[in-house]
Amino acid sequence: MNKRNILITGGAGFIGSHVVRLFVNKYPNYRIVNLDVLTYAGNLANLKDIENAPNYIFEKADICDFDNMLRIFEKYRIDSVIHLAAESHVDRSIKDPFSFARTNVMGTLSLLEAARGSWLSQPQSPKRKTQTSNLFYHISTDEVYGELKFDNTLFTEETKYDPHSPYSASKASSDHFVRAYKDTYNLPIVISNCSNNYGSYQFPEKLIPLFINNIRNNKPLPVYGKGENVRDWLYVEDHARAIDTIFHKGKSGETYNIGGFNEWKNIDLIKVIIRTVDKLLGREEGASEKLITYVTDRAGHDLRYAIDSSKLKNELGWEPSLQFEEGIEKTVRWYLENQDWLDNVTSGDYQKYYEKMYG
Ligand code: NAD
Ligand code: TYD
Repeated sequence: MNKRNILITGGAGFIGSHVVRLFVNKYPNYRIVNLDVLTYAGNLANLKDIENAPNYIFEKADICDFDNMLRIFEKYRIDSVIHLAAESHVDRSIKDPFSFARTNVMGTLSLLEAARGSWLSQPQSPKRKTQTSNLFYHISTDEVYGELKFDNTLFTEETKYDPHSPYSASKASSDHFVRAYKDTYNLPIVISNCSNNYGSYQFPEKLIPLFINNIRNNKPLPVYGKGENVRDWLYVEDHARAIDTIFHKGKSGETYNIGGFNEWKNIDLIKVIIRTVDKLLGREEGASEKLITYVTDRAGHDLRYAIDSSKLKNELGWEPSLQFEEGIEKTVRWYLENQDWLDNVTSGDYQKYYEKMYG
């Protein structure tokens, strides 16, 4: 197996931590540099099991700091990037769109420029002649495609971009920049657009961990609007496996949609979560349904997302491994068994600890 030096950005976040873990464990010959600035969503406790692995390095840095990105590319002779670092929560983007434009757009641009400067600026250099494996892999979302009606249509790789929230607008913009670097500078890139993820280590501001935590603590479950919006849910470890497949087998310049063909109306999903938590906590079935509280709808709330991932299946052979019922039970169990992790992130204590270590 070839040696590689891979920069994974946002590796201390939810999906990033699963990708870092998979790559560190599966590819001992790869040096994995996890670059993360540790915002409220970044938590090194997500990676405790691999933090001492010999092929793992952590760099606390902001992707918007271009000079530092160049330095890190040179220091570790980075040959590939898997870029996950982002502001990722739609509700936050409605309150503070600037930070989304800064990180998601300017941060991606800063990384693209560092990759271009490091990989393409010296075509004659002896180092470049032997290096054929450069890849800038950008992780995006299905939300860039906008919303679907309540029918049988699906987002394909050809669906026109039509973002509605500041979050999806910033991700769409970053996708456009990545494609522009392919067309303008011949930068080797690949993009994947994935549906909603669920699983362990997700920050409890997103629907599934928030509701598990609230049910556990007998707190209200704020359902936006009538709870009729539809999302397509994928187990996070299946997303990490898809990223591994696309990183190694994806065709340069291509886009791949990732999804589980697993659509749920919010209110139906919420009832499944309630049933599962109540069962595992030994409460009477449905006892926590009384916590459901309908609240004002999210502004610009997309009706329905649903992904057609048949290109990824047909061309690269990836398929989700887990049935939803199994995945959701595993997930609920994980949050209930890891109450310290939940309490730590909801109190903000994890940030105080790492501030002391990394400044
Ligand atoms: P997350 O919010 O859990 O993690 C984001 C990580 O990025 C955090 O560790 C944070 O500290 C880091 N980060 C933020 N700003 C940074 C900066 N300026 N410099 C360096 N690091 C920074 O997000 P997530 O849910 O794991 O999503 C990861 C990626 O996957 C994002 O690009 C997101 O758009 C995309 N995505 C997410 C989902 C989903 O359901 N969560 C679905 C599809 C695509
Ligand atoms: P979320 O997890 O924020 O993901 P996204 O908005 O990126 O799809 O929300 C998933 C769905 O759940 C979305 O339709 C909004 C809804 N929702 C609620 O009804 N209440 C909540 O408290 C949250 C966080 C989300």
